[in-house]
Amino acid sequence: MAGTCALILAAGKGERFGRTEGKVWSLVGGVPVLWWAVRAFQEHPEVDRIVLVVREQDLPRLREQAASFDKVIAVVRGGRERWESVRLGLEAVPAQDRWVLVHDAARAAVSAELISRVLHTTRQTGAAIPALRIPDTVKWVNAAGVVQQTLPRHRHAGGETWQLMTVQTPQGFAVDILREAYERYDFREGAPTDDAMLVERFYPVNVVPGDPRNIKLTYPEDLARLEAILLKGVETRIGFGYDVHPFAEGRRLMLGGIEVPSPKGLAGHSDADVVLHAITDALLGAAGMDDIGTHFPNTDPAYRDADSAELLRLAWAQVRERGWGLVNVDVTVLAETPRLRPHVPAMRERIATVLQVDADRVNIKATTNERMGFIGREEGIACYAIATLRR
Ligand code: CTP
Ligand code: MG
Repeated sequence: MAGTCALILAAGKGERFGRTEGKVWSLVGGVPVLWWAVRAFQEHPEVDRIVLVVREQDLPRLREQAASFDKVIAVVRGGRERWESVRLGLEAVPAQDRWVLVHDAARAAVSAELISRVLHTTRQTGAAIPALRIPDTVKWVNAAGVVQQTLPRHRHAGGETWQLMTVQTPQGFAVDILREAYERYDFREGAPTDDAMLVERFYPVNVVPGDPRNIKLTYPEDLARLEAILLKGVETRIGFGYDVHPFAEGRRLMLGGIEVPSPKGLAGHSDADVVLHAITDALLGAAGMDDIGTHFPNTDPAYRDADSAELLRLAWAQVRERGWGLVNVDVTVLAETPRLRPHVPAMRERIATVLQVDADRVNIKATTNERMGFIGREEGIACYAIATLRR
């Protein structure tokens, strides 16, 4: 059968969302929104290939990351307007594909059923889009917030009744039809806001039932809803980690992946970074993957004076490989000396970089032990960590 290519658009600026990195990079369950969208098409049996359209600055890292999705055949640069991005993406759709599904990456909760529905009608008719009835009344409102006009929800035309509907993506077309529509449309008439708008002028576009869960991430408040939709039924686990090392003269003090100025450091086989060790154990613990000692035995000379950030990175890669994403880690360091508070922001940044998450997912608290016990006697430093993972 003639092939099907999904054209996934992620080249927008996300101005209404207001995140400089672009809204498609927002994490849901530790995974960027963009990859949720790509995965829906990657896993769909009737989609053969995927073309990703992205911002120029995202090209290098996306080309690298897209390698884990074998249907992605091209990652191309988008344009200033959505329609320019579609046009650039269409150039990368291979000749063997007869059908194209144009999809907004911001609609990350697209379901397999919706993709099938659109595709089915597209193959029968040449053009199909998902649409929803509008439960609300729609009005024109001016800049001062005063109603100017109300749109009738129904319209009688030529003996039939039309209804207002909102439309979603994916929008499906025979590739030839969409290409021709892009050639015929006069863009001086104004920027089209969806693809059907170009096609419907000269070719009938059929509507299939949309999906209310197929929301588009547009405003910041949409993220919580998208998260609730995507993570419904997702497994959540908590892990706990603890580590302690004694002080030793003549060693650097490594904590949370950074060097903290101190007259003495911590003794240990590795660099003795108790914070990173506790976090590593919490992550492995949550995933049911034993502990740091099992993965990186301290009897193995390979890990002598090892950089604990590297061990954390390796352990985290293994945890992620099993499908886990990080919700958060929370850490308490027990140290009578030195004062750690001033170094906490740098530790959070460093750990967040190693784990490839936002720094607000990594919290660090430091406390003394009120001069009690071995911590109080300044014999060493201990650390507790808990982590929440989602799969
Ligand atoms: N898009 C694109 N190229 C553009 C503009 C938009 O690929 N020049 C993509 C977006 O990345 C998004 C989809 O088209 O996945 C729908 O657009 P929209 O929701 O408007 O996203 P943005 O344009 O990024 O957001 P905003 O309009 O708030 O800036
Ligand atoms: Mg836009």
